[in-house]
Amino acid sequence: MLSYENWQELASSRRSTRDFLDTPVEIEVIRSLLTDGLTAPSWSNTRPFMVGIVQGEQRDRISQKLVSKLRDSAELPNLGSNPDFTHEIPYPKPLSERSQRVGLGIYGALGIERGDSKARFGFMERNYEFFGAPTALFFFTHRGLDQFGTLDLGLFMENIMLGAEAKGLGTCPQGFLGNYPDVVKSEFEVDENYALVCGMSIGYASDHPINNWKAERLPIDDLLVSPSQSSKS
Ligand SMILES: Cc1cc2nc3c(=O)[nH]c(=O)nc-3n(C[C@H](O)[C@H](O)[C@H](O)COP(=O)(O)O)c2cc1C
Repeated sequence: MLSYENWQELASSRRSTRDFLDTPVEIEVIRSLLTDGLTAPSWSNTRPFMVGIVQGEQRDRISQKLVSKLRDSAELPNLGSNPDFTHEIPYPKPLSERSQRVGLGIYGALGIERGDSKARFGFMERNYEFFGAPTALFFFTHRGLDQFGTLDLGLFMENIMLGAEAKGLGTCPQGFLGNYPDVVKSEFEVDENYALVCGMSIGYASDHPINNWKAERLPIDDLLVSPSQSSKS
């Protein structure tokens, strides 16, 4: 039986990988991670999501198309530029501060100066090169289940990432990969009712220093809501 300590070690050792070796990952390994992903709970057991796996020539073609879309963009894209989903940009406070800390941490680990927009653009391109990973996943959710579709997808994705960690594989979930849905959707037979949410790079981590950088873990007290005054009376 899996001990709590084993689970905690696995969960806490998972970190986003942002530089991969080109060592291929067998399709059977990816399929088994996705199958294990389905042990996650789901709203009415509907599994309101679909997945595209890209490897080889298709991976290279999509990557090239996404990089050229990025280069054609007048403005740097951000995680909110998917036309199917909108959210506030910049993020509302204090979320914007947390997000800025991650950005600063990543650019710092890559040695990119704050004002070096060319190098920052280069990092965005690396997102569309799947950080060198030989396999990428694209995730779609059914529009009809709104928040539950996205929630179920997140649970599925976390299972995949933990399974990958246990197999010695690195992953990076990427909102960036949802920024150009037309490019991605043209590569798959995907029902119109399904919207592209994001993607994930998956493969063996390289020894690049970016993979040693660790995003902060917030103390749980920052996320606990206090009891309302009325609940105390
Ligand atoms: C929905 C989602 C979208 C993300 N998008 C990106 C992305 O486009 N590029 C990237 O480098 N990291 C992306 N990340 C990774 C987060 O930056 C990372 O999970 C966070 O900083 C915590 O670090 P950790 O994953 O190493 O624990 C994303 C994570 C999630 C859950």
